[in-house]
Amino acid sequence: MRKNIVAGNWKMNNDLTQTQALITALKQQTTSSNAEVMVAPTFTNLLEANKALKDSNIEVIAQNMHFAENGAYTGEISASMLKSIGINTVILGHSERREYFNETDEALAKKTDAALAKGMRVIFCFGEELADRKSGNEETIVGDQIKNALFHLEGAAFQNIVLAYEPVWAIGTGETASPEQAQDMHAFVRKTLADKYGNDVADGVSILYGGSVKPANAEEIFSKPDVDGGLIGGAALNADDFFAIVNAF
Ligand code: 13P
Repeated sequence: MRKNIVAGNWKMNNDLTQTQALITALKQQTTSSNAEVMVAPTFTNLLEANKALKDSNIEVIAQNMHFAENGAYTGEISASMLKSIGINTVILGHSERREYFNETDEALAKKTDAALAKGMRVIFCFGEELADRKSGNEETIVGDQIKNALFHLEGAAFQNIVLAYEPVWAIGTGETASPEQAQDMHAFVRKTLADKYGNDVADGVSILYGGSVKPANAEEIFSKPDVDGGLIGGAALNADDFFAIVNAF
């Protein structure tokens, strides 16, 4: 059975003091949700966050990493570095990385390989831009993003991959994909996986939705059969809102 997951992507928000305050607020929340809960602080706060959340049910994860093991890559962070401070999951391919830092499918394939080789779990993001959806090309774009970055892998690798559909036009805009649009795309992604790897692999992969998920819309989006959770941006910066979303499961 695939897992339900709610992950908060804090993006480039919160200095150390703000991170500590948000974690204190998160630890005060109670939940009976069956979802796995994760938060992704910025690199400089990962160690502190991981220590502070050690005895909680919240996993601390990274927002990005480089594909090389080490070397002359000024400003970058490797999988081993993340592992050495107890980080076992990394978000890869966020649309902001693709758009502002020119991350290509090819680079994301290498990053995915590097993370999996270290035994890390990958939350792999993909999603179409508004123009793609307006022209009816969203499935082609999404299908290509997944195939180009992931389809060199063996089926077994998908035990350590979580997919996250984040339509670019819904990120930070307040405009959410409708639950039906999310379900349609998630079903398409699962079928794409099934065609390549078979139903057992496809049915085991959690597919999260991201893009303006809020307490008010989470329950309806998560009620769709192929939506296995959410990758939350803005609403994850507030502990009450984030846990209201977690509790939608
Ligand atoms: P928002 O929830 O702010 O739209 O961001 C979604 C996102 O990009 C999560 O990775």
